[in-house]
This record gives sequence, C-alpha cells and structure tokens, in this order.
Amino acid sequence: MNILLLGSGGREHALAWKIAQSPKVDTLFIAPGNAGTLNVGKNVNIKADDFEALGRFAIDNNVQMVVVGPEDPLVKGVYDYFKQDSELCTITVIGPSAFGAQLEGSKDFAKQFMMRHNIPTARYLSVSASNIDEGRAFLKSLKAPYVLKADGLAAGKGVLIIDNLSEAEQELDNMIGGKFGASSATVVIEEFLSGIECSVFVLTDGKEYVILPEAKDYKRIGEGDKGLNTGGMGSISPVSFVTEEFMNKIETRIIKPTVDGLHSENICYKGFIFFGLINVDGEPYVIEYNARMGDPETESVMLRLKNDIVDLFVAVEDGTLGSIRIEKDSRYAVTVMLVSGGYPEAYEKGKVITGLSNVKDSIVFHAGTTVKESDTVTSGGRVIAVSSYGANKDEALKKSFEAATTIDFEGKYFRRDIGFDLK
Ligand code: AMP
Ligand code: GLY
Repeated sequence: MNILLLGSGGREHALAWKIAQSPKVDTLFIAPGNAGTLNVGKNVNIKADDFEALGRFAIDNNVQMVVVGPEDPLVKGVYDYFKQDSELCTITVIGPSAFGAQLEGSKDFAKQFMMRHNIPTARYLSVSASNIDEGRAFLKSLKAPYVLKADGLAAGKGVLIIDNLSEAEQELDNMIGGKFGASSATVVIEEFLSGIECSVFVLTDGKEYVILPEAKDYKRIGEGDKGLNTGGMGSISPVSFVTEEFMNKIETRIIKPTVDGLHSENICYKGFIFFGLINVDGEPYVIEYNARMGDPETESVMLRLKNDIVDLFVAVEDGTLGSIRIEKDSRYAVTVMLVSGGYPEAYEKGKVITGLSNVKDSIVFHAGTTVKESDTVTSGGRVIAVSSYGANKDEALKKSFEAATTIDFEGKYFRRDIGFDLK
C-alpha cells in the first residue's frame, strides 16, 4: 500500500524508517519530510497542515493510509477533514479526531477528562479572566513551586514553574492577559508533583490498545537537567524504574481508564496516546497527555519495537488490536540529540553537516536538516538524533556519543549525560 506520513522532525524520520521496513509498503511519502526521510521514502513538498493539498495528493497518488506525526494537524482536524470528504473517507488515518486530540490541545479538557475517569493527576484549578480571584486564592492554598499551564498548544513553552508566590500571581495575570496569545486565555494551575518522569505510549483504536516500549526523555538543555527546557535532548528505553509492578499500576490506573473513558464518551480516537507520567514514591500520576508519539522518545522506541508497525496500523483500522502481542527488542536503545549552538534560544541555520556517512554503529535520524545544493545543512534547533542499540545502557550510549563526535557542524552541542539518573 501507499502511505503518507505527515511531519518533518526526528520523530517522523524514525517513524518513516520503521514504516519503510514493512513489506506491506509500496511507496512511503513524507510531507514535508527532511534530508533524512529522503533515504527511506519520497518527500512531498506539502505542509502537514495544508489539508486540501494533502487530500489532493492522496487521491492523485493512491494513498491508502495517512500517519500523522505532530500534534498541530491533529488539533486542527486532519482526521476529520479526511473522514468528512466523500473521496478521502476510505483512507485510514492514524491519529485522533480533533475532539480526541483535545487531550493534548486543551489542558483543561484533559484535566476534566481525568477527573471524570478517576485517573491520578495533580490537583488543579482552571482559571480565566472571570475567576482570576479564585485562581489567586488557589495559588495561596498550594505550596511552592507553583505550576501554571497555558490551556492550549504553545509549542512546548506554555508551562511555567515558579518558586515565588507573588511572581506566580503576576505570571497568572500575564498569561491570562495574552502571554501565550489565545492559548493562555485559560490557565491550568496545578499542584507541583515531585518525582521522576517517564513516557509511556499506546496505540489505540479507541477501544483496544497495545502498549509500546516505554522511554525517558531529557528535556533540559544542560547536563544534570539544568537550564532551559528544550524539545528534548535525548532518550532512553527501557526505563529502569518502570518495573513490571509499576507498569501494572500504570496500565490499571491510567491506560485502561483512559481508553475506556474515550470509548464510553464516544470519542473517536484511532492513534497514539503519549502518557507523560511522573513516579511519586512508586505511584504513577499523569503530568500530561499528548495525542502523538514523543520526540526524541520515538527515535528510541522504534528501535525496540519488533512488530511490523504497518500491521499495527492496519489492526487499528480493522479493530483487531486486541489480538496483537507487542514484541520488544531486549536490548537498550538510546538517542542523543545534536543541536544548534544557542538552542533553545536564538541559533543560526544553514550550517553544513559533515561525517554522516562515517557513522557505522548507530542509526542517524535527521530532525532539523535540509538539502542545499549537494550539502546536508542544518535547518532547525534540534538537528540530528543519533540512536544506538546496546546490551546495556552504557554500551548503547558509548556508540551514540562516538557518532555524536563523528558528525559535525559549526556550533554543534549535545548532552553527554543522557541516562545519568537511571540505574
Ligand atoms: P507538560 O507540558 O504539561 O508536560 O509540562 C512540561 C514539564 O513541566 C513536564 O515535563 C514536567 O517536568 C513539568 N511539570 C508539569 N506539570 C507538573 C506538575 N504538576 N508537577 C511537577 N512538574 C510538572
Ligand atoms: N519529548 C516530549 C514530547 O515529545 O513532547
């Protein structure tokens, strides 16, 4: 079959790499893709949220399945666009409806959903201009640090964690006043949970689900988890503290109630759910839902998933996920992200990337790259994700760090301590 994958980051290169291994695929198109996805499929110069152009392309190229990488097109309704069109509605779309994507697109929606289904998460209050006084009182009732979240999508920047009460009150005003535009017209104030985070992924048809290998990502720019938040500087799978016992708690208290909740509320959801979790003294809580896979978690998770991913997608469409067993590679997989100097603040683009073809023991996924004349050049903050297998964490990391040294571009930076906090 012909498959169209939407997106252009490291997550999408990793998904494309995995999809392309399936004997079921005739042609894999990636819209718009990057310099790396060119090696596993055909890039199509259409933006992931240009639904009209995507629809025309799908018809003209006999596409039978669309796989959605990023959240933006999901929240904007790419699933619904295809399903409501008489010519496109027979195409399988892997990704939730716009309504279901609110699990990520609206933190208030997600919190209310969790309350309805008794899913453990931090105590919260949703605040907008009409109940700002209640918001200030709620802040006063909490202990520092204070967690303020823009309700809507804010490109990963909409969460503030503030130590001081008066500063938190000021930021609450700023957010409701438009600090993140319309996204922060409603703010979710949360109790701060203290623990270690991990990412758990399921693929669901809205009724049944399969659990993919878990991962941990490293969001801060600096070693020792210091400095500004980024899109993610690396990932590792498996996660040592996600024991069988802990995963059982996650499944019974969080995953199953979430999928059952979607089903009982008739929410159309055929795609990935990413559970951003925190382990508080051995008990799992939901920090956030995402309606897609994580980046750079996908780059490690795809290495450990042994099933043909297209078989999983077909099972989503056919409603047969219940009969599928997930097969995991027993090795470790780690990903080290190479980023542009200055990221996550201002950085330069267009730097020539060298050494890519000298990497032998790792899998190189492109994130922010493009082709310029005959060169591969940087085109984003996160540039290259280097993923490796190892019998243990250290062996996998050694390979990724070696490749991270071999690949070069002006201003390159990477964290040398991925996995430092795990056994
Ligand atoms: P989110 O976008 O909701 O995942 O938030 C971004 C990051 O903020 C998370 O990965 C956590 O590190 C942190 N965070 C969010 N909510 C909380 C919370 N209630 N308690 C502690 N940390 C949090
Ligand atoms: N790695 C976190 C995310 O994809 O949101």
